[in-house]
Amino acid sequence: MDQNEIINKIKQLAVERDALILAHNYQRDEIQELADITGDSLALSMEAARTDKQVIVFCGVHFMAESAAILAPEKIVLLPRLDAGCPMADMVTPEGLRELKSKHPGVPVVTYVNSSAAVKAESDICCTSANAVKVVESLPDDEVILVPDRNLGRYIASHLNKTCYFWEGYCPTHDRFTVADVTTALQDYPDAVFMAHPECSPEVLALAHHICSTSGMYSYALENPAQKFIVGTEAGILYRLRKESPEKEFILPTSRLICPNMKLTSVEDILKALQTMSPRVTVPEEIRIPAKVTLDRMLAVPRD
Ligand code: 13P
Ligand code: SF4
Repeated sequence: MDQNEIINKIKQLAVERDALILAHNYQRDEIQELADITGDSLALSMEAARTDKQVIVFCGVHFMAESAAILAPEKIVLLPRLDAGCPMADMVTPEGLRELKSKHPGVPVVTYVNSSAAVKAESDICCTSANAVKVVESLPDDEVILVPDRNLGRYIASHLNKTCYFWEGYCPTHDRFTVADVTTALQDYPDAVFMAHPECSPEVLALAHHICSTSGMYSYALENPAQKFIVGTEAGILYRLRKESPEKEFILPTSRLICPNMKLTSVEDILKALQTMSPRVTVPEEIRIPAKVTLDRMLAVPRD
Protein backbone atom coordinates (compact mmCIF):
# COMPACT_ATOMS: atom_id res chain seq x y z
CA MET A 1 0.00 0.00 0.00
CA ASP A 2 1.31 3.49 -0.74
CA GLN A 3 0.98 6.32 1.80
CA ASN A 4 -2.28 7.67 0.32
CA GLU A 5 -3.89 4.23 0.45
CA ILE A 6 -2.79 3.82 4.06
CA ILE A 7 -4.22 7.23 4.98
CA ASN A 8 -7.54 6.43 3.27
CA LYS A 9 -7.71 3.11 5.10
CA ILE A 10 -6.99 4.88 8.42
CA LYS A 11 -9.81 7.34 7.81
CA GLN A 12 -12.25 4.56 6.92
CA LEU A 13 -11.28 2.46 9.95
CA ALA A 14 -11.45 5.47 12.26
CA VAL A 15 -15.12 5.91 11.29
CA GLU A 16 -15.85 2.19 11.77
CA ARG A 17 -14.15 2.14 15.17
CA ASP A 18 -15.65 5.49 16.27
CA ALA A 19 -12.11 6.78 16.81
CA LEU A 20 -10.75 10.29 17.29
CA ILE A 21 -7.18 10.78 16.06
CA LEU A 22 -5.22 13.29 18.16
CA ALA A 23 -1.73 14.45 17.15
CA HIS A 24 0.75 16.55 19.06
CA ASN A 25 2.29 19.55 17.29
CA TYR A 26 5.65 17.70 17.06
CA GLN A 27 4.33 14.72 15.09
CA ARG A 28 5.44 14.00 11.52
CA ASP A 29 3.79 16.26 8.89
CA GLU A 30 1.61 13.54 7.33
CA ILE A 31 0.25 12.60 10.77
CA GLN A 32 -0.61 16.20 11.62
CA GLU A 33 -2.36 16.36 8.24
CA LEU A 34 -4.51 13.29 8.79
CA ALA A 35 -5.34 13.88 12.48
CA ASP A 36 -8.81 15.09 13.53
CA ILE A 37 -7.20 17.47 16.01
CA THR A 38 -3.65 18.72 16.47
CA GLY A 39 -2.55 20.68 19.49
CA ASP A 40 -0.32 21.19 22.49
CA SER A 41 -0.44 18.97 25.56
CA LEU A 42 -3.14 21.07 27.24
CA ALA A 43 -5.47 21.21 24.22
CA LEU A 44 -5.13 17.49 23.55
CA SER A 45 -5.88 16.57 27.19
CA MET A 46 -9.00 18.71 27.02
CA GLU A 47 -10.10 17.09 23.74
CA ALA A 48 -9.60 13.64 25.26
CA ALA A 49 -11.74 14.65 28.24
CA ARG A 50 -14.59 16.07 26.15
CA THR A 51 -14.88 13.73 23.15
CA ASP A 52 -17.87 11.41 22.85
CA LYS A 53 -15.92 9.04 20.57
CA GLN A 54 -15.28 5.54 21.96
CA VAL A 55 -11.64 5.30 20.89
CA ILE A 56 -8.79 7.82 21.11
CA VAL A 57 -5.74 7.23 18.92
CA PHE A 58 -3.01 9.32 20.53
CA CYS A 59 -0.19 10.23 18.17
CA GLY A 60 2.29 11.60 20.66
CA VAL A 61 4.27 10.14 23.53
CA HIS A 62 3.30 7.83 26.38
CA PHE A 63 2.46 10.41 29.08
CA MET A 64 -0.03 12.07 26.72
CA ALA A 65 -1.92 8.82 26.11
CA GLU A 66 -1.83 8.19 29.86
CA SER A 67 -3.39 11.61 30.48
CA ALA A 68 -6.19 10.69 28.06
CA ALA A 69 -6.68 7.35 29.86
CA ILE A 70 -6.78 9.15 33.23
CA LEU A 71 -9.37 11.68 32.06
CA ALA A 72 -11.50 9.30 29.99
CA PRO A 73 -11.30 5.81 31.59
CA GLU A 74 -14.35 4.58 29.72
CA LYS A 75 -12.59 5.14 26.37
CA ILE A 76 -10.11 2.88 24.61
CA VAL A 77 -6.86 4.87 24.35
CA LEU A 78 -4.43 3.61 21.72
CA LEU A 79 -0.78 4.69 21.52
CA PRO A 80 0.39 3.43 18.09
CA ARG A 81 4.02 3.20 19.32
CA LEU A 82 4.25 2.01 22.89
CA ASP A 83 7.99 2.76 22.83
CA ALA A 84 7.35 6.48 22.22
CA GLY A 85 8.30 7.76 25.66
CA CYS A 86 9.45 11.10 27.02
CA PRO A 87 12.93 11.02 28.60
CA MET A 88 12.10 14.05 30.74
CA ALA A 89 9.01 12.30 32.16
CA ASP A 90 11.25 9.32 33.02
CA MET A 91 13.62 11.54 35.01
CA VAL A 92 11.30 11.59 38.03
CA THR A 93 9.89 8.59 39.89
CA PRO A 94 7.18 8.51 42.59
CA GLU A 95 9.82 7.40 45.12
CA GLY A 96 12.10 10.30 44.22
CA LEU A 97 9.24 12.75 44.45
CA ARG A 98 8.18 11.38 47.86
CA GLU A 99 11.75 11.96 49.07
CA LEU A 100 11.72 15.59 47.84
CA LYS A 101 8.30 16.12 49.46
CA SER A 102 9.62 14.81 52.78
CA LYS A 103 12.24 17.60 52.72
CA HIS A 104 9.51 20.26 52.28
CA PRO A 105 6.51 19.03 54.29
CA GLY A 106 3.21 20.66 53.39
CA VAL A 107 4.57 22.41 50.28
CA PRO A 108 2.32 21.75 47.25
CA VAL A 109 3.74 19.90 44.25
CA VAL A 110 3.05 21.32 40.78
CA THR A 111 3.85 18.69 38.18
CA TYR A 112 4.32 19.28 34.47
CA VAL A 113 2.08 17.00 32.40
CA ASN A 114 5.30 15.53 30.97
CA SER A 115 5.31 12.98 33.81
CA SER A 116 4.02 9.49 34.53
CA ALA A 117 0.56 8.84 35.97
CA ALA A 118 2.23 7.54 39.15
CA VAL A 119 4.11 10.84 39.61
CA LYS A 120 0.91 12.82 38.94
CA ALA A 121 -0.79 10.73 41.62
CA GLU A 122 1.87 11.94 44.12
CA SER A 123 1.29 15.59 43.14
CA ASP A 124 -1.20 18.33 44.02
CA ILE A 125 -1.83 19.93 40.65
CA CYS A 126 -0.57 19.61 37.07
CA CYS A 127 0.46 22.29 34.61
CA THR A 128 1.47 22.49 30.97
CA SER A 129 3.71 24.99 29.22
CA ALA A 130 0.54 26.88 28.21
CA ASN A 131 -0.75 27.50 31.74
CA ALA A 132 2.20 26.95 34.10
CA VAL A 133 2.47 30.50 35.50
CA LYS A 134 -1.31 30.77 35.95
CA VAL A 135 -1.47 27.41 37.73
CA VAL A 136 1.28 28.29 40.22
CA GLU A 137 -0.19 31.79 40.66
CA SER A 138 -3.56 30.21 41.54
CA LEU A 139 -2.06 28.53 44.64
CA PRO A 140 -2.30 30.47 47.90
CA ASP A 141 1.04 29.06 49.13
CA ASP A 142 4.29 31.05 49.23
CA GLU A 143 6.35 27.93 48.50
CA VAL A 144 5.98 25.35 45.71
CA ILE A 145 7.76 22.24 44.48
CA LEU A 146 8.08 22.22 40.66
CA VAL A 147 8.58 18.86 38.94
CA PRO A 148 10.23 17.57 36.69
CA ASP A 149 11.48 20.29 34.30
CA ARG A 150 14.13 22.55 35.83
CA ASN A 151 13.85 24.96 32.89
CA LEU A 152 10.08 25.35 33.01
CA GLY A 153 10.44 25.56 36.81
CA ARG A 154 12.90 28.44 36.63
CA TYR A 155 10.78 30.16 33.99
CA ILE A 156 7.75 29.98 36.33
CA ALA A 157 9.85 31.17 39.29
CA SER A 158 11.03 34.22 37.32
CA HIS A 159 7.39 35.35 36.96
CA LEU A 160 6.28 34.91 40.56
CA ASN A 161 7.33 35.96 44.01
CA LYS A 162 7.30 32.47 45.54
CA THR A 163 10.01 30.21 46.90
CA CYS A 164 10.37 27.36 44.41
CA TYR A 165 12.05 23.99 44.87
CA PHE A 166 13.03 22.33 41.60
CA TRP A 167 13.49 18.85 40.27
CA GLU A 168 16.56 18.87 38.02
CA GLY A 169 14.93 17.16 35.02
CA TYR A 170 15.09 18.51 31.49
CA CYS A 171 14.07 17.78 27.91
CA PRO A 172 17.08 16.36 26.05
CA THR A 173 15.82 17.81 22.77
CA HIS A 174 15.48 21.41 24.01
CA ASP A 175 18.68 20.96 26.03
CA ARG A 176 20.65 20.38 22.80
CA PHE A 177 19.66 23.89 21.69
CA THR A 178 22.36 26.39 22.68
CA VAL A 179 22.94 30.12 23.06
CA ALA A 180 25.41 29.85 20.14
CA ASP A 181 22.61 28.45 17.94
CA VAL A 182 20.44 31.45 18.78
CA THR A 183 23.11 34.12 18.38
CA THR A 184 24.15 32.68 14.99
CA ALA A 185 20.53 32.65 13.82
CA LEU A 186 20.00 36.22 15.07
CA GLN A 187 23.14 37.34 13.20
CA ASP A 188 21.93 35.62 10.01
CA TYR A 189 18.39 36.99 10.38
CA PRO A 190 18.72 40.29 12.28
CA ASP A 191 15.11 41.31 11.55
CA ALA A 192 13.66 38.00 12.82
CA VAL A 193 11.64 37.52 15.99
CA PHE A 194 12.88 34.71 18.25
CA MET A 195 10.15 32.67 19.95
CA ALA A 196 11.08 29.92 22.38
CA HIS A 197 9.47 27.12 24.37
CA PRO A 198 9.95 27.28 28.17
CA GLU A 199 11.70 23.87 28.07
CA CYS A 200 14.75 25.74 26.66
CA SER A 201 17.55 26.66 29.06
CA PRO A 202 17.32 29.98 30.99
CA GLU A 203 20.27 31.30 28.93
CA VAL A 204 18.41 30.63 25.67
CA LEU A 205 15.15 32.02 27.08
CA ALA A 206 16.96 35.23 28.06
CA LEU A 207 17.43 35.89 24.31
CA ALA A 208 13.78 35.22 23.37
CA HIS A 209 11.37 37.93 22.22
CA HIS A 210 8.46 35.69 23.16
CA ILE A 211 8.17 32.53 25.32
CA CYS A 212 5.14 30.25 24.91
CA SER A 213 3.78 26.72 24.44
CA THR A 214 3.80 25.08 21.02
CA SER A 215 0.24 26.21 20.20
CA GLY A 216 1.08 29.67 21.56
CA MET A 217 3.62 29.92 18.73
CA TYR A 218 0.91 29.50 16.09
CA SER A 219 -1.17 32.40 17.40
CA TYR A 220 1.92 34.56 17.99
CA ALA A 221 3.16 34.01 14.40
CA LEU A 222 -0.29 34.80 12.98
CA GLU A 223 -0.76 37.96 15.03
CA ASN A 224 2.79 39.36 14.91
CA PRO A 225 3.54 41.56 11.86
CA ALA A 226 7.15 40.27 11.64
CA GLN A 227 8.00 38.36 8.46
CA LYS A 228 10.72 36.12 9.90
CA PHE A 229 10.62 33.94 13.01
CA ILE A 230 13.39 31.92 14.62
CA VAL A 231 11.68 28.91 16.15
CA GLY A 232 13.02 27.64 19.48
CA THR A 233 11.26 24.30 19.77
CA GLU A 234 10.94 20.89 18.13
CA ALA A 235 10.99 20.83 14.31
CA GLY A 236 7.50 19.33 13.93
CA ILE A 237 5.97 22.70 14.71
CA LEU A 238 7.20 24.10 11.39
CA TYR A 239 4.56 22.20 9.41
CA ARG A 240 1.55 24.16 10.69
CA LEU A 241 3.46 27.45 11.08
CA ARG A 242 4.35 27.35 7.36
CA LYS A 243 0.88 26.16 6.37
CA GLU A 244 -0.91 28.93 8.27
CA SER A 245 1.46 31.75 7.26
CA PRO A 246 2.95 30.74 3.88
CA GLU A 247 4.20 34.28 3.23
CA LYS A 248 6.32 34.27 6.41
CA GLU A 249 9.70 32.62 6.95
CA PHE A 250 10.24 30.20 9.84
CA ILE A 251 13.82 29.34 10.71
CA LEU A 252 14.87 26.30 12.76
CA PRO A 253 18.23 27.40 14.23
CA THR A 254 19.59 23.83 14.48
CA SER A 255 18.64 20.40 13.15
CA ARG A 256 19.30 19.08 16.69
CA LEU A 257 15.80 20.29 17.64
CA ILE A 258 14.24 16.94 16.75
CA CYS A 259 12.65 14.71 19.37
CA PRO A 260 13.28 11.09 18.27
CA ASN A 261 10.34 9.86 20.33
CA MET A 262 7.90 12.25 18.68
CA LYS A 263 9.06 11.04 15.28
CA LEU A 264 8.59 7.31 15.97
CA THR A 265 4.93 7.07 14.99
CA SER A 266 4.26 6.38 11.30
CA VAL A 267 1.03 6.10 9.32
CA GLU A 268 1.66 2.33 9.17
CA ASP A 269 1.68 2.25 13.00
CA ILE A 270 -1.63 4.15 13.15
CA LEU A 271 -3.25 1.76 10.68
CA LYS A 272 -2.00 -1.26 12.63
CA ALA A 273 -3.27 0.23 15.90
CA LEU A 274 -6.75 0.68 14.44
CA GLN A 275 -6.74 -2.79 12.89
CA THR A 276 -5.61 -4.58 16.07
CA MET A 277 -7.01 -2.08 18.62
CA SER A 278 -3.61 -2.11 20.33
CA PRO A 279 -1.30 -1.10 21.95
CA ARG A 280 -3.76 0.15 24.54
CA VAL A 281 -2.78 2.44 27.42
CA THR A 282 -4.56 1.97 30.74
CA VAL A 283 -3.91 3.27 34.24
CA PRO A 284 -4.77 1.23 37.37
CA GLU A 285 -7.60 2.82 39.37
CA GLU A 286 -5.48 3.35 42.51
CA ILE A 287 -3.19 5.60 40.46
CA ARG A 288 -5.75 6.97 38.01
CA ILE A 289 -8.07 8.46 40.65
CA PRO A 290 -5.46 10.61 42.47
CA ALA A 291 -3.80 11.46 39.13
CA LYS A 292 -7.17 12.65 37.80
CA VAL A 293 -7.57 14.98 40.78
CA THR A 294 -4.32 16.74 39.79
CA LEU A 295 -5.36 17.06 36.15
CA ASP A 296 -8.89 18.23 37.05
CA ARG A 297 -7.45 20.90 39.37
CA MET A 298 -5.35 22.16 36.48
CA LEU A 299 -8.29 22.17 34.07
CA ALA A 300 -10.31 24.19 36.61
CA VAL A 301 -7.76 27.04 36.67
CA PRO A 302 -9.34 29.90 34.70
CA ARG A 303 -7.69 30.61 31.35
CA ASP A 304 -7.43 33.94 29.52
P1 13P B 1 3.45 21.65 24.74
O1 13P B 1 2.84 21.09 23.50
O2 13P B 1 2.48 21.55 25.85
O3 13P B 1 3.98 23.02 24.55
O4 13P B 1 4.65 20.67 25.18
C1 13P B 1 5.79 20.46 24.53
C2 13P B 1 6.35 19.11 24.73
O5 13P B 1 7.51 18.94 24.91
C3 13P B 1 5.51 17.96 24.67
O6 13P B 1 6.29 16.87 24.82
FE1 SF4 C 1 9.77 14.80 26.02
FE2 SF4 C 1 11.25 16.77 25.04
FE3 SF4 C 1 10.34 14.93 23.39
FE4 SF4 C 1 8.65 16.69 24.52
S1 SF4 C 1 10.28 17.15 23.07
S2 SF4 C 1 8.37 14.48 24.32
S3 SF4 C 1 9.62 16.97 26.53
S4 SF4 C 1 11.78 14.61 25.08
